Amino acid sequence: MDKFVIEGGVPLRGRIAISGAKNAALPLMACSLLARGEHRLANVPRLRDIATTMKLLGNMGAVCEHGDPWLRIDTRRIENFEAPYELVKTMRASVLVLGPLAARYGRARVSLPGGCAIGARPINLHLKGLESMGARVELEHGYVVVRAERLRGARIPFDQVTVTGTENLLMAAALADGVTVLENAAREPEVVQLAEHLCAMGARIEGAGSSVIAIEGVEELSPAECAVIPDRIEVGTYLVAAAITGGSLSLSPCRPDHVEAVVKKLEGTGLKVRYRGDALEAEGDGEIRSQDLKTWPFPGFPTDMQAQFMALMTLGDGASVITEQIFENRFMHVEELRRLGADIRTDGRSAVVRGVPKLSGAPVMATDLRASASLVLAALAAENTTTVSRIYHLDRGYEALEDKLSAVGARIRRVNE
Ligand code: EPZ
Repeated sequence: MDKFVIEGGVPLRGRIAISGAKNAALPLMACSLLARGEHRLANVPRLRDIATTMKLLGNMGAVCEHGDPWLRIDTRRIENFEAPYELVKTMRASVLVLGPLAARYGRARVSLPGGCAIGARPINLHLKGLESMGARVELEHGYVVVRAERLRGARIPFDQVTVTGTENLLMAAALADGVTVLENAAREPEVVQLAEHLCAMGARIEGAGSSVIAIEGVEELSPAECAVIPDRIEVGTYLVAAAITGGSLSLSPCRPDHVEAVVKKLEGTGLKVRYRGDALEAEGDGEIRSQDLKTWPFPGFPTDMQAQFMALMTLGDGASVITEQIFENRFMHVEELRRLGADIRTDGRSAVVRGVPKLSGAPVMATDLRASASLVLAALAAENTTTVSRIYHLDRGYEALEDKLSAVGARIRRVNE
């Protein structure tokens, strides 16, 4: 198993190329099940979760090839409609095949994802939505089994905002008989890209990006091409790297409208940020102002940036109250940050972070994707050496992290334990 060895204390300087967004690419790949033929996606990052999705689709009969610039998915011979436990347990987003399979083939057998480090994360809203579209949903031996002649349009008010729930039902509704209205839908940029791609495939969708999306089902869809949007969470992570090391980074390409809440919050901590074309330039000066934070669905501050922001607040000039409103157990990084000398107290979904003058290196362990990113950020600022183990969590969602960081001056290397 690999680990990172990081010598902290170097202000990072230079340009970092931002990869395509994992959380946009995964639903776009699942979406290929809706139409037989060759689908081509560009700017797909080389990540473990992408490889897992290629395996998942391959299991069903698709032929996937991750070339450059295209990831090609040939869905002419889909003959199996199952997402096995072995794959789903490694990546919950596998549930994104549920809607497309139910809509296109009238059947799906998908392993229940089970619990996760950051929360229970049930999929009841996905299933409830499919049932209201006329699907029969049963649980058999840890699998969700869905059967449906042809799904029919329905009004689906979500009890709470769910990103992949919105994406699953958006894809299901695209081939349903009649009009579906998703209410309290997720407004994330990844949802908008999926809706735009579905329209390029022939779907009729209005309102993506707002909390009410209307989909008029069509008989058939056809393959289309698209380029995956830049990863806004990767942008946010490197912005914190500039702030926490007192460095200056240029990040591109990035979409300003996708990172507004993150940029605004980081400017509050003292980071200087300006846009130049499709690049975002960030300048830190080592002074970090403590700020309170609450996570919200988009366009609020993303939960996927909470851990990284907490790492920054460990070196703030006062106290910061961080409230995690999306997931019930997303403070796994707290214990590890404390090992680096941070002063953090948690109480349920809130954490009080008192800034300390410095962090000092120690062995720490990654627990989930974004928690591990926060440990790498803290290690970049800490004195001496930090080793971060179980970095397979990072490989799920950050492309070539150590190469990108080394290129701007970080002393980081991957070591096989
Ligand atoms: C997506 O997960 C992202 N994953 C997550 O990113 C991200 O943290 C999350 O949205 C929130 O922004 C992908 O897009 C692949 P939700 P998702 O359904 O869709 C509850 C990362 O680090 N809920 O929006 O699974 C749920 O428990 C990952 O890249 C139900 O109760 O999240 C949570 O509390 C981590 N029932 C809340 O809603 C349901 O049926 C929001 O979850 C569905 C969700």
